[in-house]
Amino acid sequence: MDQGTFSAVDEFIGETIVEEDEALRGAVEAAEAAGLPAIQVSPPQGRLLQLLVRLLAARKILEFGTLGGYSAILMARALPEDGRLITLEAKQEYADVARQSFERAGVENRVEVRVGPALEALPGLEEEAPFDLVFIDADKVNTPNYFTWALDHARTGALIIADNVVRDGTLADATAADESTRAQRRLHEMLRGEARVSATTIQTVGVKGYDGFLVALVEGA
Ligand code: SAH
Ligand code: DHB
Ligand code: MG
Repeated sequence: MDQGTFSAVDEFIGETIVEEDEALRGAVEAAEAAGLPAIQVSPPQGRLLQLLVRLLAARKILEFGTLGGYSAILMARALPEDGRLITLEAKQEYADVARQSFERAGVENRVEVRVGPALEALPGLEEEAPFDLVFIDADKVNTPNYFTWALDHARTGALIIADNVVRDGTLADATAADESTRAQRRLHEMLRGEARVSATTIQTVGVKGYDGFLVALVEGA
């Protein structure tokens, strides 16, 4: 099996059970036109995020890494009317593209983009906590730092999801030199014996290649 097959299967899923509407296609097109990298979650992954938002009956979501707003639109749409999503983006130009797409998707009242390095935004988020869902999808070297903060600022029963932890299977390589990969290994080591979460990592293939995401359920104290 190869990348062509993985992409073809995602395409089939997209044509059958996971439809992208005008606003989502618009968000992808606006991002592409502005020269943003096409690294948003795939449509099937995005649908899973939506299902989890609904299952959790989430009202407050925090996202690390906005890009063009694709995953944020999906999650925001699954929120109730009075729900809120805060998404953190380092680049002003990306945030500007995302804000326009939020308006086209009609979720601008539920979504707030905060621009700047996510670590610097965290002190200002204290009063917004606790969150019901945290989606970590920004700079991969900081995933363990974001996870640690999320764990301290999530309600019991919340989910913390970290994207891009498998990284072409390099997650299993103890000698990996790549800092992003080392951070994902450290995250997993960190969760060994961490009583405050029950977690798993699911390997994935699809239009985005071979990767995977970690899902952690926050347990009561
Ligand atoms: N969640 C998006 C994809 C995010 S891609 C989606 O699925 O649609 C990763 C994003 O993280 C990029 O937009 C990048 O600019 C941003 N990023 C990188 N380093 C960051 C940092 N230190 N703080 C906040 N955002 C950062
Ligand atoms: C990259 C970032 C992502 O969040 C992703 O899902 C895939 C790739 C990247 O920075 O290359
Ligand atoms: Mg990602």
